[in-house]
Amino acid sequence: MIKPVYVYGSSVLRRVAEDITPDYPNLNQLYEDMFETMYQSDGIGLAAPQIGLSIRVFVIDASPLADEHPDMKDFKKIFINAKITERIGNPILFNEGCLSIPNIREDVERPETVTIEYLDENFAPHIEKFEGLAARIIQHEYDHLDGILFTDRVSPIRRQLLKSKLNAIAKGKFSASYRVKLV
Ligand code: NI
Repeated sequence: MIKPVYVYGSSVLRRVAEDITPDYPNLNQLYEDMFETMYQSDGIGLAAPQIGLSIRVFVIDASPLADEHPDMKDFKKIFINAKITERIGNPILFNEGCLSIPNIREDVERPETVTIEYLDENFAPHIEKFEGLAARIIQHEYDHLDGILFTDRVSPIRRQLLKSKLNAIAKGKFSASYRVKLV
C-alpha cells in the first residue's frame, strides 16, 4: 500500500528511531509498502520514519540512476537495525534531495566510504563497505534514523538562506506530486 510521506515539520522525522526484532508485525508488508511508496514518489531511498514509523529500517533502490551510474544497476536493498561503524575518505560534495523536503536540493558534504553493519530482510547479519554514490545514499537514509535531515548538514550560510523555505514546508505551503502528511 502506498503510504503518505511525512514532511519537514513532522516530529517523527526528528526522533531517534528504535531497533526492531523479527517479531515486528507484518514485516513483509512493511517492506512492500516502503518500496511502493518510494517508487510512487520517484525516490531512490526511503526510511521508515518518512512513513511515520520510528524504527530503524530503510530501503534503497538506486537502479533508476543506472543510466548515469552503471554500478547502481543492482543496488536494491533493505537495511534493518543498521549501524555505520566507519566513515572514511575525503568529504565529497553532492547535490541531495529528500522526499520529506519537497522541491529543495542542496549540496551536502559527506565522507566517501562507509562500513555498515545491518540485518537483511531475513534478519541475517552483514558487514559491508560501500563507496561513492551507494555510500552517499546510505548515509542520507541512515541519518533519517537518527532524526537528522540533509538540510541540517549544509553550510550555516545555506541553512540561513533555506530557513524560510523550510518554514513554509512545515506550514504546509508547498506542492508535491505524491501524498504527504504533516503532523
Ligand atoms: Ni531523505
